[in-house]
Amino acid sequence: MAVTTAVTTTVTGAVGTAHTRVEGREKVTGAARYAGEIPFADLAHGWLVLSTVARGRIGSVETAPVLAMPGVLTVLHHKNAPRLHLDYIGLLGVRPDPTAAVFQNDRVPHAGWPVALVVAETSEQAREAAEALVVTYEQEPHDIEFRGDRPDAFTLDGHMPAVTEKGDLEAELAASAHVVDVEYTTPEEHHAMMEPHAATARWDGGRLDVVDSNQGTTWVADELSRMFSLDASAVRVRSEHVGGGFGSKGLRAHQVSAVMAATALRRPVRVVLNRRQMFSLTGYRSPTAQRIRLGADADGRLRALEHRSLSQTSTVWDFVEPSAGVARVMYDAPAHRTAIEAVRLDVPSPTWMRAPGEAPGAFALEAALDELAEQCGVDPIELRLRNEPERGPVSGMPFSGHNLAACFREGARRFGWAGRDPRPGLRREGDLLIGTGTAAASFPAGAGPSTAAVTAEADGTFTVRIAAADIGTGARTALTLVAADALRVPPARIRMRIGDSDFGPAMIAGGSTGTRSWAWAITVAADELRERLAGETGIPAEGITVRSDTTAALGALAQKERHSFGAQFAEVAVDVTTGEVRVRRMLGMFAAGRIVNPLTARGQLVGGMVWGISMALHEEGIRDRASGSHYGGDLAGYHIATHADVPVVEADWVDDPDPDDPVGIKGIGEVGIVGAAAAVANAVWHATGVRHRNLPIRPDRIL
Ligand code: MOS
Repeated sequence: MAVTTAVTTTVTGAVGTAHTRVEGREKVTGAARYAGEIPFADLAHGWLVLSTVARGRIGSVETAPVLAMPGVLTVLHHKNAPRLHLDYIGLLGVRPDPTAAVFQNDRVPHAGWPVALVVAETSEQAREAAEALVVTYEQEPHDIEFRGDRPDAFTLDGHMPAVTEKGDLEAELAASAHVVDVEYTTPEEHHAMMEPHAATARWDGGRLDVVDSNQGTTWVADELSRMFSLDASAVRVRSEHVGGGFGSKGLRAHQVSAVMAATALRRPVRVVLNRRQMFSLTGYRSPTAQRIRLGADADGRLRALEHRSLSQTSTVWDFVEPSAGVARVMYDAPAHRTAIEAVRLDVPSPTWMRAPGEAPGAFALEAALDELAEQCGVDPIELRLRNEPERGPVSGMPFSGHNLAACFREGARRFGWAGRDPRPGLRREGDLLIGTGTAAASFPAGAGPSTAAVTAEADGTFTVRIAAADIGTGARTALTLVAADALRVPPARIRMRIGDSDFGPAMIAGGSTGTRSWAWAITVAADELRERLAGETGIPAEGITVRSDTTAALGALAQKERHSFGAQFAEVAVDVTTGEVRVRRMLGMFAAGRIVNPLTARGQLVGGMVWGISMALHEEGIRDRASGSHYGGDLAGYHIATHADVPVVEADWVDDPDPDDPVGIKGIGEVGIVGAAAAVANAVWHATGVRHRNLPIRPDRIL
């Protein structure tokens, strides 16, 4: 039946104005349910058992005593688990990490490798039985020693080439008036998001239904369907609210083992990871050792730049932290070489962690630039402006926008950089030495193919369906504003439905591309719907729906080098008696495309900068050589910045719309952390006169 609702539209201009989260009330009242707390009838609970040795083979899994324990339903392990299909390349262009494909053989490639799942009526029963399960091993010697001079380092061309080079590096270095040749290290770092990984799997009318916490429902659904050899339409993954992801929430052991158990038991099974399990099961940022060689003329113009980065990966999956990649974008020189190397150790597989590559890479490169500025006697900002590239130094492509200088100029004005005495170690307040530092930031601004459906409802509202993921960023709200503007209606008339693979393929919340990719698809569908509605006199009860697919539209983006940029500023106080470094204030100015929701955008950028403080001063995952596992693999032993560590942190931006994006978006998810640790480290040098090239800058390293 046709309902005669007038189709009224107005230009609202919601994009660019501050909006609180559309789901904010649900979150603060507890009405928003997270994956580990959604109730299901007849729910069983699985608890993973992880290896206690770092290398070897499983000898036996003594299931009988555990199966006799209260509530225990089954124990899955390599002898009784179904075989999985692993020979495929997934949606993100990479092979599956065998760490997620649990119980396929008896090999143990690292400490904390999943060897069994105990399923019981309650989570407590499952955990007690898991802790009682005896697993024997044929142990082999392991090697977890990461150091910069490993002779077994290798290069691997992946998403980007491992090595780029032009010009004669040695000749240009020899002809340089100033040379910086330094090595920097960063430690193993962990995502430490608030919400641990959790999934519930069940069979529902012949379909596999997984309620999960992830960064992309279609991505996880695709991996599950391939691994379990299921038709894509037979798998549904939902992920409504997510308490942080940062790169670690893809397909992991908890979803796969939950699916195995739900299939075996024919009832819903939930597997939740605890914090300690996350330290070996959900990826991390590899430690890095980075060698930087810079050669410059007397006035600081670069003649030679070499950035070589080494990271570690596991023996089962190749993930190489591309730290030297940042030098391919930031600075040009007649002789320019970057090399991304890795070494395979008996450790868990690392993975994407917020600003993979750029975060550790910019620490090293931007700290080295500061050392060069000191040598040349040139202000660190002026040095960077003198070395702004005309085009992508390696790609040779023009930049779609390069507003780094604007960030530095506006940032310097607000921070009060002018008149800074460049000499280190001169400002003292009692036991405190005071210093300021700066660094540049950049991160690629890409987009991934997405589909969206926009429905004009009979009651005058609009429903948007897209398999987007709001991992705490405010994406749901940002997309509401984008849809409102595209449809020319107020945001209150938009109903945003996300986090469901049944909505069709969409980009993941990753690579700082989520909001842009989804906004693009929504804009295309909304534009077409608005045109359709112009010719309608009424809307039928089932509404009018328009679908979009941006796959073909994104090709144009490849013609230019596209990045967000930023300038980071920090002031620190270093206590010369305790060795404690405290950040007093930070400012980040960014050129990161059109900002959709200033309120949540500021939160994201400030969050990245706080993570930079944490990276500079606190975070460090330490492995025990003997056991191969972590000392203190939990939030008591692994220190992250807390409120007491975080002073006034300001983030703002310059006007920088992407001319080729329908909304002008670039992406802000990761650029906030990039360069933040370097700004802090450079400020510590300015305070003390000592260069700290190994993170974190702990009190014992200061003293
Ligand atoms: Mo991010 S490391 O792309 O989630």
